[in-house]
Amino acid sequence: MITNKMKLNEIVKAYPRAVDIFNDFHIDYCCGGNDSLEDALNQLSIDSKSFIDVLNKKLEKQTKEPVPTEVLDVDRLMKMEVPALIDYIIDTYHGKERILLSEIDALSNKVLLAHYAHHKDQLIPLHGLFSDLKKELEEHFAKEEKLVFPYMKQSYNQKSDKGYVKELEDEHDAAGNLIKDIIACTNDFTVPDGGCTSYHMLFQKLHELIKDIYNHIFTENSLLFSKYEGGH
Ligand SMILES: [Fe+2]
Ligand SMILES: [Fe+2]
Repeated sequence: MITNKMKLNEIVKAYPRAVDIFNDFHIDYCCGGNDSLEDALNQLSIDSKSFIDVLNKKLEKQTKEPVPTEVLDVDRLMKMEVPALIDYIIDTYHGKERILLSEIDALSNKVLLAHYAHHKDQLIPLHGLFSDLKKELEEHFAKEEKLVFPYMKQSYNQKSDKGYVKELEDEHDAAGNLIKDIIACTNDFTVPDGGCTSYHMLFQKLHELIKDIYNHIFTENSLLFSKYEGGH
């Protein structure tokens, strides 16, 4: 049973299916995972009592249905030790997101050229925001894979410098802010009238990337880093 004082990351750990509902309402459970549900709802001017009633009813109904494969398997991830969880993150999220980043990069350029005349007010800022996000994520993944994750793997059960965690969390916040701007710029991934198949594909892949990044950041901020800081 979810209550308004619970933190967003506690809710996702206990009810991974809440992620879909949080995404629909732009409730930031990844970078803002330590906020209470009440605070997050207040910030978005959503009435907390009716939202939580609906959320609990929806989740209660869903627990009787089979779990779809795209839902975060939090129970399994929480049982993993730091090295295994790091390997899982690289295999699952870094690999998939690198492919999506390069597909979206090509599509973004194609759509900018094709629809410049009628939609440049949307496509120019979107092209810039996506380029910034791609650059930040590529550099962030490299830092994790080549520097911080190897360090975490060998130091997780010893006394170690935890400063890297704060650096990565700050970089997640920066990516989270670019993502909020992308959502606003695309009107929540709503293709304008006259948008071609590539326009649809661009928004669909951007949406897919962003949902994946949310799960990715949640897995690092709320599962990996808390395990690492707890030394297990
Ligand atoms: Fe990562
Ligand atoms: Fe990260």
